[in-house]
Formats: sequence, structure tokens, C-alpha cells
Amino acid sequence: MNTPLKNRIRLLAKEKNAIILAHNYQPPEIQDMADLCGDSLELSIRASKTQADIIVFCGVRFMTETASILCPEKTVLLPRPNAGCPMADMVTPKALGDWISRYPTMPVVTYVNSTAAVKALTTICCTSANVIRVAESIKEKEMLMVPDRNLAAYAAAHTNKTIHRWNGCCPYHDALTPDQVIRQKKAHPDALFMAHPECRSEVLALADEVTSTSGMLKIARESDRRAFIVGTEVGLLYPLQKANPDKIFYPASPAMECTDMKKITLEDVAKSLETLSGEVKVPEEIRIPALKSVQRMIEL
Ligand code: 13P
Ligand code: SF4
Repeated sequence: MNTPLKNRIRLLAKEKNAIILAHNYQPPEIQDMADLCGDSLELSIRASKTQADIIVFCGVRFMTETASILCPEKTVLLPRPNAGCPMADMVTPKALGDWISRYPTMPVVTYVNSTAAVKALTTICCTSANVIRVAESIKEKEMLMVPDRNLAAYAAAHTNKTIHRWNGCCPYHDALTPDQVIRQKKAHPDALFMAHPECRSEVLALADEVTSTSGMLKIARESDRRAFIVGTEVGLLYPLQKANPDKIFYPASPAMECTDMKKITLEDVAKSLETLSGEVKVPEEIRIPALKSVQRMIEL
């Protein structure tokens, strides 16, 4: 840990009345410096309630856009502007608009891992933590869901809804295979296997628990088990191990490393706070319709 740099960031944050949020996949030094770590849902809710003037969001672009949608009066900073989410870019507003025009009566559920312009075409947003609740809250039996085909399959399997899926996915979660999981289970027969719903259904079928990143942190904290196989991005191993030093965590696959989630450095955070660079601002004509779909989710 670079303590002088961390201290400089904390001082700047105090002077500028800024809050620093970090997603659970961020590098250890970023998580240790942040005011709050969490999953996408927790961080969006926290952003919507903060009294700070500036929100520094250590995550990827869609998360900062969500913060900007919720807090238009605040300055929202993404310390590394090219930190994106490949899955979010798998559906464009044009392509979604064309799909909607083929099914005009169907509500659209959009995973928060999506652009603001896509959220603007959406009935209600969801996260990995609330997708089942969101799908069940819709009165119609049939709906469209974008962009994650795996999350949509998971929601369909746990509700009595007919969910038409967009063919997007997280390249890291989708790459995890049942064989890799079985190998880890054989190597660690006493371990509990937790999987993120962005994994394929064949992988989820092997899981003891399917949940969001913060859901995994909660399970690890509360479980009597001593060992866990973690079926999500490897960044989560750090907060898991930190919060549970007497337990042991194995990645389902060490290849599950999201390049975009590792882009932000402490230097980037300091520079962004100093110069207010990397501001993300969603234009009003997109923000207002997008806000409806995000707020509808938060109010559930
Ligand atoms: P969570 O909402 O579970 O934190 O997941 C976000 C994400 O990007 C998963 O890949
Ligand atoms: Fe997007 Fe996957 Fe990275 Fe999450 S882990 S930000 S879904 S690419």
C-alpha cells in the first residue's frame, strides 16, 4: 500500500467533500482506500443518498453513469475514463429499439451493466442481487431482458415468467466451464461453491449458492464452512479473505480476471480528484427516461 498517496487522496476527498466508492472487484489498494465497497446495487443506492458534492467511482463506466443518472447535481468522476464493461457494449440503443419494435407490448428488463442510453429504453433495471424480485414484480408474464443471456436464463429458471433473452454475456463469467468447477470441487471436496448469475446455467447447476458479489461476502461471513470456491471475478477474493482471515477461498478459475476492473490506480484517483478529470455526465434527454427505470428498481 502506497501510504503517502493514500493519505493525499483522503485529504483531497475531505477538502473537496468527495466520497470514494469502489466495486468489490477493484484492486486491493483501491478497496482499502475507498469510503465504501460494494456490489452494483449497494453502490447505486449509496450514490443516490450521499451528501457529498463529488462521487469518485472506482469501477466501470456503467456504474458512474448510474450515479450520474441518480445524482445530476453532483460531479461524478471515473478516474480512468476507458474502464468499460464489454457486456454493457453488447447491446446498443438502436439494436434494442429494433427488438422492442418487434415486441411492442413487452416490458424490458435491463441489467445495470448497460449504457445509460439503453436504460432510457427500459421499463425497469435489475442487478444480480435482485433480478428474480424484479422479474416477479412485473405483472406481464412475458418480458425482454438485456444484455446478459445467462442472467436472463437464471431469472427464467427461478420464476414462472417467459423471458426473451438478448445474446450478450460477460466474457469472464461466461468462460467458466463445468469441467473447471468439477476439478476444483474434487480438489477441495469440503468447499462451498458460490457462483455469480452471470455464469452459464451448466455452471450454476453445480453451485451451492448463486448470488451477487456482496451476497457472496455475506454467505462467507455467516457460513460455518471453512473453505469456498468462488465463481466470480477474482478481485472478490481479496475482500473475502480480508473479512474472513480464518477461512480459505479458491478461485473457480484464475482466468476470471476483468481487465477493465483493474485499470484504475491510486495515481488515477489522486489526479481525478485534483483536476476533476474523468467527469461522467449523462445528458438530460437520456437521464430522465433512464432515471425512471433505475428508480423503479430501487423502490422495489
Ligand atoms: P455485482 O452487482 O454482483 O457486484 O456484479 C457486477 C459485475 O460487474 C459482475 O460482473
Ligand atoms: Fe463487465 Fe464482466 Fe467486467 Fe463485470 S466482470 S464489469 S460484467 S466485463
